[in-house]
Amino acid sequence: MNRSHHNGTLRLENEGQAVELVGWVSKKRNFGAMNFIDLRDRSGLVQLVFDESFNDKLKDVRQEYVLHVKGIVKERKDKNPQLPTGDIEVIVNDVEIVNPAKVTPLIIADETDALEDTRMKYRYLDLRRPIMQKNLMERAAIVRSLREFLDNHDFVEVETPVLGRSTPEGARDFLVPSRVHPGTFYALPQSPQLYKQLLMIAGMERYYQFARCFRDEDLRADRQTDFTQLDIETSFLDENQILSMMEDMLKKLMKDVKGLDIPTPFLRLSWEEAMNRYGSDKPDNRFGMELQDFTDLFKDSEFVPFKHAIENGGVIKGIVVDDFAPSNKEIKKLTADARKNGSSGLVVLKYKDGTFSGSAVKSLKPEELEALASASQVQEGGSILIVSDPWLKTCTALGALRNDIAAEKSLKKKDEFSFLWVVDFPMFEWSETENRWVSQHHPFTMPKREDIPLLDTDPGKVKTNAYDCVLNGYELGGGSMRIYEQDLQDKIFEVLGFTPEQTQQKFGFFIDAFQYGTPPHGGLAFGLDRVAMILAGTDSIRDVIAFPKNASARDPMSDAPNLVDPVQLDELDLAVNIEPKDRKFFESYKEGSIPVTLSDGEEIEVSLNEIRAWKESQK
Ligand code: AMO
Repeated sequence: MNRSHHNGTLRLENEGQAVELVGWVSKKRNFGAMNFIDLRDRSGLVQLVFDESFNDKLKDVRQEYVLHVKGIVKERKDKNPQLPTGDIEVIVNDVEIVNPAKVTPLIIADETDALEDTRMKYRYLDLRRPIMQKNLMERAAIVRSLREFLDNHDFVEVETPVLGRSTPEGARDFLVPSRVHPGTFYALPQSPQLYKQLLMIAGMERYYQFARCFRDEDLRADRQTDFTQLDIETSFLDENQILSMMEDMLKKLMKDVKGLDIPTPFLRLSWEEAMNRYGSDKPDNRFGMELQDFTDLFKDSEFVPFKHAIENGGVIKGIVVDDFAPSNKEIKKLTADARKNGSSGLVVLKYKDGTFSGSAVKSLKPEELEALASASQVQEGGSILIVSDPWLKTCTALGALRNDIAAEKSLKKKDEFSFLWVVDFPMFEWSETENRWVSQHHPFTMPKREDIPLLDTDPGKVKTNAYDCVLNGYELGGGSMRIYEQDLQDKIFEVLGFTPEQTQQKFGFFIDAFQYGTPPHGGLAFGLDRVAMILAGTDSIRDVIAFPKNASARDPMSDAPNLVDPVQLDELDLAVNIEPKDRKFFESYKEGSIPVTLSDGEEIEVSLNEIRAWKESQK
């Protein structure tokens, strides 16, 4: 096929030219004796005009047929300003039907009402929708821009293994059984963390990789089991140098892909300030509604929940929401949401005609309510939502309400991009389930020098040189300066509750490397899928991944994960405990036979034992 142009690129300047086009039928219409077809390719669509001599040839043609046409570009009488090619049409003089198409199970258009599972089952058709093609092309442009920046800043792209040892990112591993060493397993990388630090010890100085990562965790709108990180590590740079280089990279990205000039340096909030003001370690600061502290105001309150919080060292904080007068039903839901996020309850005070209403009003003194109105600056028709609990629980619950209410009130503008850093994260979190300290980031994160003495006395207070990059309330990336002295690393493992033997067994190969001249180093990783998701203005990471898993971690198109042939299991020395409904599949094999096609094409039934014996004979 001698394609002369891409359909979406034709303009009035092409008038009079003979063109040869290919593509899919997007729409077919009849006008009297004439046929009109919109022919679509990746670049867009163009209107084709066929006179009556083509009627016979076109009679079966419908949407998604593949056509090859020759024709002449002509100015249109009735122009279509909605369409980039709307000033012209192509008068066809020859058409070849390259391939027919069945009626598609979903409409190939930007707007779709198809269920997500249908879209994923027929992903190749879903991806034919122009919006999805645009998403994938924008994702490629993102990668191009990032790679260009890093290549120009002396970074070396290095690949690290997919089959390796478990990495300590805190999610569950995906395991791959080894056939050669029965009973042992590789772990798919949750990130290339250990390898990139070893590359620094190896003297690479600046590394990057678009790395596939695998985490067996519950899926959410911004989480997949397999996803891609832009993984970065540097030697001999301090935290400020790393963050400012990353700001330059993201500034170039936003210019290249969105044509926007974003301001640098980005706002930096300590973790504590982020929690205190926004109730989140990934604050969305495109809108206000910041958390306010009312602890002092209510310090002598007789209202039981407030009194209880004060007596137990807790805090009383709230958010003020303008134009908000929730009904009793809505208040019930808000309270349930606050509880889900860890609070013991929620006080809602509605402000109208200069007075508060709400079930807590009768328990609060008039002077307390007066002080609250003036301190909070609540506006007529607005409400105050108050939580009184331990500090972290209070902040988290209010942060979640702040986010939900902002979404409901459409305060999150998709074309506004607000980048910021959250820094100085705590080193450890107390795990109630494991009854020990666990790492907030990972155990190789550098604690703040001045906090090192606290490792012995109050580990919960130790802060780190760790940082997260946040965009519009999403955690875009995260990283840290790393520990490079062995004594300190040993101390951290001790606080985490590992014995020296356990440390050696888990991370021995890694720790040993630190004895051979380790440079000070640090880095971070960005979630590429999340970057692409936010820049594309969608709420689902699945819209920017060609072949994603659905919410229950399945691929409805290829039907993965699926049962495997018992012979494969046998080779791996694995037995599977399965539900009775699936057991039938295996029983049919157990009863004796598997159909096998011989090289001459004959089909025979062979028992499992015969297959094993044959495999043995081939060794
Ligand atoms: P972290 O675990 O914070 O850090 O991951 C870095 C970034 O990867 C993205 N991300 C995900 N994206 C989609 N689906 C997931 N399941 C998923 N999990 C994480 C997020 C996140 O910010 N090795 C460290 C980095 C370092 O210290 O250098 C790490 O992996 O955008």
